[in-house]
This record gives sequence, structure tokens and C-alpha cells, in this order.
Amino acid sequence: MPKEALLSASYKSASYKSASYKSASYKSASYKQETCLIMSLSVSPSPTVLAVETSCDETAIAIVRGRQVLSSVVASQIDIHRRYGGVVPEVASREHVGAIATTLSQALAEANREQSVNWDDIDAIATTCAPGLVGALMVGITAAKTLAMVHNKPFLGVHHLEGHIYASYLSDDTLKPPFLCLLVSGGHTSFVQVRGAGDYVVLGKTRDDAAGEAFDKVARLLDLGYPGGPVIDRLAQTGNPKAFPLPEGKISLPGGGFHPYDASFSGLKTAVLRLTEKLKAERPDGGELPVADIAASFQATVVRSLVKRAIACATDYDLSTIVVGGGVAANSGLRQQLRLAAEKHGLKVIFPPMKYCTDNAAMIACAAVAHFERGERSSLALGGQSKLSITEISQLYVSAL
Ligand code: KG4
Ligand code: ZN
Repeated sequence: MPKEALLSASYKSASYKSASYKSASYKSASYKQETCLIMSLSVSPSPTVLAVETSCDETAIAIVRGRQVLSSVVASQIDIHRRYGGVVPEVASREHVGAIATTLSQALAEANREQSVNWDDIDAIATTCAPGLVGALMVGITAAKTLAMVHNKPFLGVHHLEGHIYASYLSDDTLKPPFLCLLVSGGHTSFVQVRGAGDYVVLGKTRDDAAGEAFDKVARLLDLGYPGGPVIDRLAQTGNPKAFPLPEGKISLPGGGFHPYDASFSGLKTAVLRLTEKLKAERPDGGELPVADIAASFQATVVRSLVKRAIACATDYDLSTIVVGGGVAANSGLRQQLRLAAEKHGLKVIFPPMKYCTDNAAMIACAAVAHFERGERSSLALGGQSKLSITEISQLYVSAL
């Protein structure tokens, strides 16, 4: 079927107006139109979206109404990938296939138990479609499209990083653009000016490793296991952050000086490797390494780099709120230092609730609600993409209005 036909099939038959809109009966056509508009603006509840997230190593399904999470289930594969020291894409895809049906049943049961939600109450089905591991993404995309077709609901593809931005909408009812988002996940680190739903400008980014990736690599070289962020964070709390001075990665500009917002973490990782080798060489008898001090020094350097750049972006672009998204938003050092620095500069900082920092489907549903409310829908021909810039989100949608 051509793309357009699939798309119109997906939203033509869908009933995504509120029950009050559908059941109202009016005498004249013109009266009906006007009243419906007023009703949909004043009493229509926020849309309810069921979303699927399978971009990496978490199988997640959530049901969200506006910014209210009705259910959120995450089946983590971390224990499986830990054996290999990182995510094995083919294993991730197979695990998603095995977990998706149970995750869906649990998410539906939870929303039904807590809020009496059933299929009639769900306005749209969404799924992460980029960026991510393509095999893993395809499991969620296939599940979401199937649900959309079977239940006659509109379908929306969601950009994973936009989901991380929307995680903070789940903790703050009043949050609205413009603001700065510091996106710090396992695969991405960027400073994004948020101008509206789907309207993003990347002000700065890492030129090499992402912040989460640096945590994972440093944990591996210290034999701390996978994922590295939580374990380094825990150890850092008992270590001395000034024990080992480590270099903060900077990006030189051709005309001299440094890029004010772009960051680099691969040199820092190499510096930790050299430091560890030196400390091991000083302990030929295999004496214990000061792992907590190394972790604290490394974490403090990452945090300093992120905080400095986030504050610079916010003040230079006149953005009074900084929102943090992605797995590294769970980091205790980042939470503490960014709050302190923001307070000094008169800025507001919002972190997502801890359970919505790492991958989950509630944030994907929340982002989908925003696109749904703008009348945007995705084609059922939409595929998964391993890479897609956050500035290219508009290509995921067509207008249904
Ligand atoms: O957002 P996320 O769950 O997945 C991606 O989209 O990549 O982020 C996972 C990353 C991993 O690199 C993990 O080590 C890191 O987030 N992470 C942390 C913490 N918890 C998770 N990094 C630092 N401190 C933490 N507490
Ligand atoms: Zn993520």
C-alpha cells in the first residue's frame, strides 16, 4: 500500500476526540460546530497515549494522559547484558520480542486497576522510532503499529531524545518552552534550546564520547561492571573529588580559544586509563587501587564540564530554565552541582523523577501527547532509524488537521 494510503487508513477511522464531543447532540449544524469547538477547548480532557519504548535494553510500555502517568512498566535487560560488559544488539532484539506481550498486559492492567482505563480511553499509540538499535526499535514499532491497526487508533513515531526532554514534563505541570535542555544519555550529550514541541536548536554537543558512555567506559576499565553510571556515582560519594586532577576536554577553535559549548570526554577517559596504569605500576604487589577517589575525581570532572556549558548556554541565550534529561540526569553529583550553579545565576533547574531519567515509555508517551495535540500523526510506513538528529523530528509527522 502506498505511504499516503496507509497513513490515511491509520487516522481516518480513528476516534480521538473526547467522549463528550462524540456524544453531544445539537439542533443546528452551525450551532453544533461552534459548541463542539468550545467544548473541545474547555472540557476535553488531555489525550491519553499508550507508548512503547524498545530503542536499547529496556522493554517499556506506559499509558499517559496529558502529563499524568496512568501506568509505566519497564522490563530491564541489564542483568543479561552485564555478562557481556555492554549491550549486545541481537540479544536486545530477542529479549524485546520475549518481553513485549507481558509488558503490555501489565501496563494495561495497571492503568485499568488505578484509573479504570481501557482501550476506548486510549486516543493514540506511539513508539520510539529513532535513534536506537534498529533491530530493537523494530520490535516496538511492529507492536505499536499492530495495536494501532487492531484498535483503530492513530499512530505516532517518537524521537527517543525528545522523550528524554519530555521526562521533565512529568515532574513539573507548569513547564513550557522556551528552556535549555541538557541531554545526557548513554549515546548522546547535547545542549538543546527548546523552542516548542519538535522545535529544537542544538547549541553544543560532545565531539566524541557521550557523558554516559564515558561513565560506562571508565567503569569497565576499573572493573566495576555495566552500566557504569550508577556504580561510579555510588563510589564517588565516598571518594575525594580532588584526589586526582583530571583534564576537562575542550574543543579548540581555529582562530584560537575554545568552543564555549561543545564538550569532549574521550581524553578524560584516556587520562583515567593512564592514571589507573600508573597507580597499578606503583602497586606491584597488587595492592588495592583508590577506586572511590578515582571515581569521585572522574565524576567531578564530567560534572564540571556539563555544568559550566549548561550555564553558559542558558545565560547566553536568555533561557531562565534548565531541564536535564537522559540516564546521567540521575547522577547525584550533577544534580547537586547544577542546582548550586543555577541558584547562583538565578536560573531554575528541573530534573525528571529518578525513575524517568533512564529509558522508559512514560516520557515517550508524554512527547507523543504534545505532537498528537498539534494534530500530528505518523505514517504506518514509518520505519526505525539508528540515527536521526533531534532537529529533524518534523519528518516523522504529517498534519492530520
Ligand atoms: O538514557 P539512558 O537510559 O539510555 C540511553 O538513551 O542511552 O542512559 C543510560 C546511561 C548509561 O550510560 C548509564 O551509565 C548512565 O545513563 N547512567 C548514569 C547514572 N545512571 C545511569 N550516569 C551517571 N550517574 C548515574 N547515576
Ligand atoms: Zn535513553
